[in-house]
Amino acid sequence: MQKILVVDDAAINRDLLYEMLKSDYQVELAEDGGEALAKLQREWKEIAAVLLDLHMPGMDGFQVIQDIRRRGLIRKIPVLVITSEDTAEAESRCLELGVSDFIHKPFERTVIRSRVRKAMGLFSHRNRLEQTVEKQAEALKKQDHIIQVQEEKLKAEKAFERLMLEYQAAIMEVETRLKVLNAEFSQEYNRNPFESIKSRLKTPKSIYEKLERKGYPVTVESIREHLRDVAGLRVICSFPDDIYRLAELLIQQDDIILLRSKDYIKNPKSNGYRSLHLILSVPIFLSNEKKYMNAEVQFRTIAMDFWASVDHKLKYKKDIDNTEEIVRLLKACADSIEALDYQMQEIRNKIDSAKA
Ligand code: GTP
Ligand code: MG
Repeated sequence: MQKILVVDDAAINRDLLYEMLKSDYQVELAEDGGEALAKLQREWKEIAAVLLDLHMPGMDGFQVIQDIRRRGLIRKIPVLVITSEDTAEAESRCLELGVSDFIHKPFERTVIRSRVRKAMGLFSHRNRLEQTVEKQAEALKKQDHIIQVQEEKLKAEKAFERLMLEYQAAIMEVETRLKVLNAEFSQEYNRNPFESIKSRLKTPKSIYEKLERKGYPVTVESIREHLRDVAGLRVICSFPDDIYRLAELLIQQDDIILLRSKDYIKNPKSNGYRSLHLILSVPIFLSNEKKYMNAEVQFRTIAMDFWASVDHKLKYKKDIDNTEEIVRLLKACADSIEALDYQMQEIRNKIDSAKA
C-alpha cells in the first residue's frame, strides 16, 4: 500500500480523510506544518502524495509548500491542497508554486479519492519516465566512457605496435650491416669477426618497468625519447680485437650515429663484467619516410658472454645463499677470462703469422 500524508490542524478533517482513504492507502497524519515537514524529511521516499490544509496555526500550508519546493520534492510528490479558502488568488498562488490540485472544503469522498488517484498516477508515470531517462543517460555515459577507454587503449596499442616494428627494423638494419661485414671478412681474410648475433626487442613489461623505475611517463613518445635499449643486439666475437675492429667499421658507416660508447672491456665493472656497449642511432627506411632509431649493441667475446650469462643468473635469483662467495668467484672467473681471451688472441696471432 502506498503512503499518503494528510496534514490538517482540524482533527475532524484528518479523521474524515483517513476514513476515505484508508482502504486503499496507508494514511499518515500530521497536525501542523512542522510535523508534516519532519515526516517528509524522514520518509519522503515512501510518501506518494501529500494532502495539505492551507490555514494552520504556526507554519501554514504555503510555508510547507515552499519547503517542499526547496527540497526539490515538488516534482517528485504530488501535493493536493484541501482548503476552505476559495479566493482565486490563493488557488492560483498554489498552482504557481507547483501543487497538483486544489480542492475546496467541504470535500466529498469520491472527488477526493479520484483526484488523489489521478495525481498519484500522473506523478508515478512521470517519475518512472524520468527514472528511465536517467538510467538511459547513465548507461549512455558508461558506454561512452568504455568506448573512449577502448579507443585510447587501441590507439596506444597501435602506436606501440608501430614503434616496435620500427625498433625491429633497426635491429634488422644493424644485423644486416654486421652480416655484410662478416661475409666480406670471410671472403677477403678467410675468417669471421663474429661468431653469432643475438637480438631482442625489449618486452612491454620490461619497457614499462624501466620507465616507471626512471620516473618517466609510460607513453609511446616517452619510450622513443628516453629508452635507448629497446632494440638490442649482442655480437659474440672470438677475440677482443675483433670487437674493436667490428665496432669501428660499424660506427664509420656514414649514416650511423654513435650516441654513446661504454667500454666495459677497458674499464670492467667492479663485478668483472666486460663488454663493449654502443648506443647507436640508425636509419630505417619505411614506405614514406626515413627515420633514425636507437639501438644498443653489445660486443663481447665468447668467454665474456659465458661469464655474463652465469652472472645474469645470479642477478635474477633473489634469495640465494653464499652470494658473497659467488660474487667473489665470479670476479675471479672474470679475471681468468680476461687473461684467457688475450692468450687465445696471442695464439691466433701466432697461427696467422705462421701461415704468412
Ligand atoms: P640498464 O637499465 O640495465 O640498461 O642499465 P644501463 O643502460 O644504465 O647500464 P649498462 O649500459 O651498464 O647496461 C646495459 C646492459 O648491459 C644491461 O641491460 C645488461 O644486458 C648488460 N649488463 C650490464 N652490466 C651487467 C652485469 O654486470 N652483468 C650482466 N650479466 N650483464 C650486464
Ligand atoms: Mg641499458
